[in-house]
Amino acid sequence: MKKYKIAVIHGDGIGPEVMEATLYVLNNLGLNFEFIPVEAGLNAWKKYKNPLPEETIDIIRKTDACLKGPTQTPPGPETFKSPTVTLRKLFDLYANIRPFKSRPGVPSIHKNVNMIIVRENTEELYSGIEYSIGENSIAIRVITKKACERIARFAFNLAKKEGYKKVTIVHKANVLKVTDGLFRSICFEVAKEYPDIITEEMIVDSAAMKIVMNPSDFNVIVTTNLYGDILSDVAAGITGGLGLAPSANIGDKYAIFEAVHGSAPDIAGKGIANPSALILSSAMMLKYLGEEKIGKMIENAIDSVLSEGKYLTKDLGGNTKTMEFAKAVVEKLNKL
Ligand code: NAI
Repeated sequence: MKKYKIAVIHGDGIGPEVMEATLYVLNNLGLNFEFIPVEAGLNAWKKYKNPLPEETIDIIRKTDACLKGPTQTPPGPETFKSPTVTLRKLFDLYANIRPFKSRPGVPSIHKNVNMIIVRENTEELYSGIEYSIGENSIAIRVITKKACERIARFAFNLAKKEGYKKVTIVHKANVLKVTDGLFRSICFEVAKEYPDIITEEMIVDSAAMKIVMNPSDFNVIVTTNLYGDILSDVAAGITGGLGLAPSANIGDKYAIFEAVHGSAPDIAGKGIANPSALILSSAMMLKYLGEEKIGKMIENAIDSVLSEGKYLTKDLGGNTKTMEFAKAVVEKLNKL
């Protein structure tokens, strides 16, 4: 049986709690994993004054994929760069894939949502090119043709592969005529290669409203880094919250899987976080590794637990603890 070497970043806040639950599920699948724990985040900063130690990067390079818990990045100091953003750039993980689905039994504003946000993951304002100039400050927003082309192609290929009919290009080219103008025009260029897929465009503020009001109109959204990040939380908010939103950071040679949510300091250490987002991210990892069937089984097991309504975490109106939820998922998996 093939052995998968997985780098595991437990992370900060609720990170270690949702990771323990996720590893519990993964260890009960009958697959052969070697999980290699590596340090990153606020805990690493406290120990080494470096949120992403070199050793972590070296180990990650030798693995098949990385499963990452959320890491906490405080607003200062400037030398504390987000390890998440650094890893995305370092491994050239240019596509951030964030699927949002209405899940059975989950109290949510909308039903029938099934959309994927494809977010450019390596440049734009998240490059963090910022300067102080006297008492003022400046950030440089770089958008390159290469990055636009590959994220657009990724989004259209994904739509084709997953059977989605439409790709919506989200931008603000009416104001940011040069940078978003480039993103928009390149996306439309790439769209010509996919005549079977409907292409539409939307200004980002309008997209935010329409996701809230008519989310079932969306299939695949392709957008830049910052807009994608913000729209993701909007999409999570209408489908049951951040506790259910998984994601994948994909490049041509490597991939990192993590929940959309952060370290949730407000609920950390209580054992009440919803582990679904990270468990679903691990299901995306299994699909990436070629274990499509088992990845789908995990998703089905989560849906089955949620739809019964017996084991719901606090964010979904229940009082099930993080590990109890993971155990309920494994019980379902054993019956599938
Ligand atoms: P957050 O996503 O951590 O929390 C927002 C709200 O959602 C909180 O009320 C929290 O309790 C709730 N929530 C999040 N995940 C949940 C879960 N699994 N179960 C139940 N409730 C959940 O966002 P916030 O508070 O803005 O950020 C906290 C820290 O996380 C910051 O330092 C930020 O830099 C970091 N962060 C890290 C990310 C990463 O590592 N990829 C992504 C986003 C934020």
